[in-house]
Amino acid sequence: MKTIVYEPTEENIKKCAEIIRKGGLVAFPTETVYGLGADAFNEDACRRVYEAKGRPSDNPLIVHIARASDIGQLTPRLSEDIVKLIDNFWPGPLTLVVKKKDTISKTVSGGLDTVAIRLPDSEATRALINWAGTPIVGPSANTSGRPSPTKAEHVLHDLDGRIDAIIDEGDCRVGIESTVLDMTGDVPTILRPGIVTRENLEAALGKTVELDPTLTAGKPADEDFKPKAPGMKYKHYAPKADMLIVEGNREDVKNEVERLRVLNEKLGNKVGILLFEEKTFNEAAHEFFADLRDMDEQGVDMILAGALSDAEGVGFAVMNRMLKSAGYNIVRV
Ligand code: TXA
Ligand code: MG
Repeated sequence: MKTIVYEPTEENIKKCAEIIRKGGLVAFPTETVYGLGADAFNEDACRRVYEAKGRPSDNPLIVHIARASDIGQLTPRLSEDIVKLIDNFWPGPLTLVVKKKDTISKTVSGGLDTVAIRLPDSEATRALINWAGTPIVGPSANTSGRPSPTKAEHVLHDLDGRIDAIIDEGDCRVGIESTVLDMTGDVPTILRPGIVTRENLEAALGKTVELDPTLTAGKPADEDFKPKAPGMKYKHYAPKADMLIVEGNREDVKNEVERLRVLNEKLGNKVGILLFEEKTFNEAAHEFFADLRDMDEQGVDMILAGALSDAEGVGFAVMNRMLKSAGYNIVRV
């Protein structure tokens, strides 16, 4: 299969919508990362999404819609809280986990009785969904386990020849995936942190929002543990290089990273350094996955990264990815 990269013109988006209608796979831009799209109501097409990514079949897909009112196709009821969240954050980087309708296949839901729904803010992607005439699934458009793609070239690197098309809208603005919020229990619970933070959600809802306990455990879940977001248990965001995170105050971290760099270079290792220092947490989010991929391209053997210190905001969301990339390999200085 030849993968075609399209500019987001009206004519091209219509071509891509036709590919989706016929059961094909089209990678699409969002404000967070690129997604791998297929007709959410076409089970064969959704199965091919898992195949193309090499994704375990128990890890459910997020369904993307073109307008908030389309949510009724996917879930039987809306609570007042869900409506508040939609009004405050959609379109935007917030995914809501809600009860699913029977129209959603087990292939999409990974066998759960819930579905994750998101309204992305790319106009090109909303036009794609609109012209396809169906909600589309959209896991991140990377090979399973690799860093999420924030540029069309990242998608091409992982999935060239395995998908029909990519809509190239340049760099993704946010750079890390959406916040996943479970709305099926008594208390809204963040299953995956993102740039929509607990503080933002609590302000909109006027009530407490919890963090799933796995997010603050600081270590990988046990083999037999079943997290609420199945995807959170898999090895993730892994660069080819070994990665070590150094945590502490800025000066100490810088010195320790320098010491380890010299030591590792003496051993003949090519070392990559990831220190965000003066940068904001949003800038770190924007660059993180792209930096990992750049270091892979450069053939780096060892990545030394400075931890971001943020209890639960955007820095915490980046740290969630950084810890997984490093296999929780962290030292404190
Ligand atoms: O920003 C994003 O969310 C991107 C863009 C393309 O929209 N998509 C994305 O999808 O990151 P993916 O498949 O790479 O990550 C989805 C996460 C996984 O951890 C998955 O386990 C979880 O959401 N998830 C999906 N459906 C769920 C459900 N019904 N209940 C709990 N977790 C769910
Ligand atoms: Mg992913």
